[in-house]
Amino acid sequence: MKKGIKVVTIGGGSSYTPEFVEGLIKRYDELPVSELWLVDIEAGREKLNIVGNLAKRMVDRAGLPMEIHLTMDRREALSGADFVTTQMRVGQLKARIQDERLPIKYGMIGQETNGAGGLFKGMRTIPVLLQISEEMKELCPDAWLINFTNPAGLVTEAMLRYGPHQKVVGVCNLPINMRMTLARLLDVELERLHIDFAGLNHMVYGLDVKVDGESVLDEVLNIMCDPDRQVSMQNIAPLPWEPEFIRSLGVVPCPYHRYFYKMSDILEKQLEEFKMGTTRAEVVQQLENELFDLYKDESLAVKPPQLEERGGAYYSDAACNLISSVYNDRGDIQTLNVRNDGTISSLPRESAVEVNCVVTKAGPKPITVGELPVSVSGLVQQIKSFERVAAEASVTGSYEKALLAMTINPLVTSDVKAKQLLDEMLEVHKEYLPQFSERLTHN
Ligand code: G6P
Ligand code: MN
Repeated sequence: MKKGIKVVTIGGGSSYTPEFVEGLIKRYDELPVSELWLVDIEAGREKLNIVGNLAKRMVDRAGLPMEIHLTMDRREALSGADFVTTQMRVGQLKARIQDERLPIKYGMIGQETNGAGGLFKGMRTIPVLLQISEEMKELCPDAWLINFTNPAGLVTEAMLRYGPHQKVVGVCNLPINMRMTLARLLDVELERLHIDFAGLNHMVYGLDVKVDGESVLDEVLNIMCDPDRQVSMQNIAPLPWEPEFIRSLGVVPCPYHRYFYKMSDILEKQLEEFKMGTTRAEVVQQLENELFDLYKDESLAVKPPQLEERGGAYYSDAACNLISSVYNDRGDIQTLNVRNDGTISSLPRESAVEVNCVVTKAGPKPITVGELPVSVSGLVQQIKSFERVAAEASVTGSYEKALLAMTINPLVTSDVKAKQLLDEMLEVHKEYLPQFSERLTHN
């Protein structure tokens, strides 16, 4: 007989973990988690211990009977799990620094989830996630895998196409952040505001925005053009949108769309920062050092507010709401990365899409969207092609597929440099790209 809910978090030593623990504590009445297993690898041992001890203090302070287990033994943790969340960073922040610096060196945008950086983060991550997918099939076949690891769209694509364990959902904090920001700017309670989200991860659009069921899309499009009321995230420069552009787009872009529609402005900013030696990855490294210093303090037993300076703020609301709605068979609407299954008619059935879903104990069921507006459908198709080729490159270790993925990505702006950048990044990251080892050692 089972005692209660067993949750496993892979990449448990992440600086974000206190936010997840806080989310579980807040929801304990509706979601009685009896065991939380924080799993990490040898290289993350110190971080796991620091953050794990803080998690224990948080649970003690809340007076809850939630056991916190810290382990390097993933199989032991996975065995009999009910929910598994993945939030690891293969190669740690050191690898992200390369993902963000190298493209800039070649005059292209450096970003951990888009362009060349996103491709490499995906290629490092996908083989590990597929291994986890296999272990889950064996050790906890009924558990849901809730993935936060970026690039969440690309890795969900790979897990749906190539993983044996199909109970997979990709989660991002961006939809919930957009809702919270727009609710604040419109001055309405969050529950009254609904957004019809559709697209891909970090490439999602609000096709309509409603307050109490009435469309307020016009007003929201106005807000999007107001330089004083920008909808963005901590990690993305809040560059204002041009009114004519937003009007003709006719839907609400997400903060990440700036990388595509404002490529030159963003690149210019990144080049300036690069000269001063501060990519976002380096800012995050600094922030993380400060956070871990705070976490070490034995008298700290709550999530410190500094964590909200990270782009992933409120991610735990997205994760915990999903877990709770599955557990409680709630039937509410959440924006998630799931198998398309005809929801967006112009995309393959087996591909991952980010759409609104009804969440019950059977898992998320996507709500039909139909065709995307012509203003956005082309870019979405192009990114989906990139994700499919990138997923194949990640699984097969094919140099040709990796070069193709690189070249068809709109943020990789030069075909000649694409190859040079690919070669340099393959070399720099080779420790984490075993699928390419043959080519790399024979070169
Ligand atoms: C956003 C994205 C996350 C991403 C984060 C990066 O919130 O939705 O997927 O991880 O930004 O934030 P960071 O503080 O690491 O730059
Ligand atoms: Mn995200």
